[in-house]
Amino acid sequence: MKYLWKLWEWFDDRTGLGGLIGPMLTHPVPRASKWAYVFGSATLFAFILQVVSGVALAMAYVPASGHAYDSLKYISEHPLGNFLRGVHYFGASAMVILIGAHTVRVFLFASYKYPREVSWLSGVVLLGLTMGMGFTGQLLRWDQNGVWSVIVCAEMMGRVPFIGEYLAHFVLAGQNIGGATLSRFFDFHVFAIPALIFGFVGLHLWLVLRNGISEPPVKGRPVDPKTYREWYHNLVKRDGVPFFPDAAWRDMVFGASMLSLVALAALVWGPPELTNPPDPSLLNADPRPDWYLLWYFALLALLPHGTEDYFLIYGPLLAGLWLFIVPFIRPYGERHPAKRPWAVASVMLVVIMIAVLGVEGNRSPWSPDFEAKPLPASIVGTDVGPVAEGALIWHKKGCENCHNISGFGGRRGPDLTFIGDKLTEDQLTLRIINGGYNMPAFAGNISHNDLRSLVAFLKSRRHVYNDAPDVASPAPVTPSPKVVPTP
Ligand code: HEC
Repeated sequence: MKYLWKLWEWFDDRTGLGGLIGPMLTHPVPRASKWAYVFGSATLFAFILQVVSGVALAMAYVPASGHAYDSLKYISEHPLGNFLRGVHYFGASAMVILIGAHTVRVFLFASYKYPREVSWLSGVVLLGLTMGMGFTGQLLRWDQNGVWSVIVCAEMMGRVPFIGEYLAHFVLAGQNIGGATLSRFFDFHVFAIPALIFGFVGLHLWLVLRNGISEPPVKGRPVDPKTYREWYHNLVKRDGVPFFPDAAWRDMVFGASMLSLVALAALVWGPPELTNPPDPSLLNADPRPDWYLLWYFALLALLPHGTEDYFLIYGPLLAGLWLFIVPFIRPYGERHPAKRPWAVASVMLVVIMIAVLGVEGNRSPWSPDFEAKPLPASIVGTDVGPVAEGALIWHKKGCENCHNISGFGGRRGPDLTFIGDKLTEDQLTLRIINGGYNMPAFAGNISHNDLRSLVAFLKSRRHVYNDAPDVASPAPVTPSPKVVPTP
């Protein structure tokens, strides 16, 4: 013990680190800042976990198009490798949840007000960088789901005015997705974005030391920039506690619980299965992002056709801009949420929107359903003749992947349960041959006989199904020609 102490004294004398770190660890913080304040440090712990598990994964991962998928398969076959992938996946989820919780807490407590505006701004940058990590990480799986993120990324970049083409070319490293894209995303995910995160975390932490941790808001105690610093100084002098150990133990307990939960989830559930390797010729490509981006996936899918252009570029731009101006709208005044109903309402709106879109994204009714089962005879109504044959074609040609009939099939296209009431045989035939917006044309892909049976089957989808010939719609009564008055 004595020798260890001597060793430390020697080290401290030569480096001076003790005099630097000591005051940092014991800087006074408001006594009342308790459990609501643990999310920031937990985000940092999750980030460190991501760095450690990521470095370990990179030891066996090969960032080349011909090998990435196989190297991940190889990693997943090892129990330790599989665990590491699980930790990295759930660690990413934890980091996203925690940075979200931290942002919401800071916003609801109005901790971004004077003098902590720059803390907020650097936090917004860190939020964006974290989403960037999630985005770029998915591609590294180099499977069909991973490709979703590049497609979205390229589409977003491509729509930036003037330099869009150049930007898309830059992120894809070429005209389209290929081996070079993988190298580029590997660079973003492993070098560029983490380096930026380290830098901004440094700034963020320095600002916490410089301006102190905000005290919990109290109703009727507004922030006055003229007197705030002095007032805060007196508060922590009078009623402050040293950060270590009086406040830090909460960060430790919360952070350790979070890390244990991540490890447990990795053991119990493991990493997400790799989907098929990306292959543009595969028809049933239904790429979807990891859960924390499902809401964005849903948003892009549900936007009315034609508005994506504006949304892809101006949506994120406006959201980012709004976050950036938040601390400048009112850097002074009331901080308590009860006095800021608009702040509470906007948080609720955003949280509900993300939750609803996330659930929709998970169901993704706009994607074809490739597991759709053939229609049972009770719904077809008969098991002989052209109608029954048509029902088989309906299944064989994959119509039911996109169309629903009486509760069976996907919801990509319109429900066709009663299509026989709406379209004539000729219209049905034309539609199948020509396709439509988001429906493939089947001309040349379906035999004459199959087409006839299919149309017979669709024509039998009507409100009152009977075997009687088509007399349901009586011939329209021709109105007697109007007598044109002669002038
Ligand atoms: C990839 C998904 C997809 C597949 C596969 C598909 N459709 Fe469609 N279908 C659609 C979409 C989307 C529409 C709406 C198109 C539009 O409004 O232009 C549509 C429209 C239709 C319509 C017109 C519906 C109306 O209310 O006007 C009919 C009929 C139809 N499809 C029949 C079929 C048949 C028969 C097949 C199989 C041979 C088939 N579809 C395969 C997506 C699909």
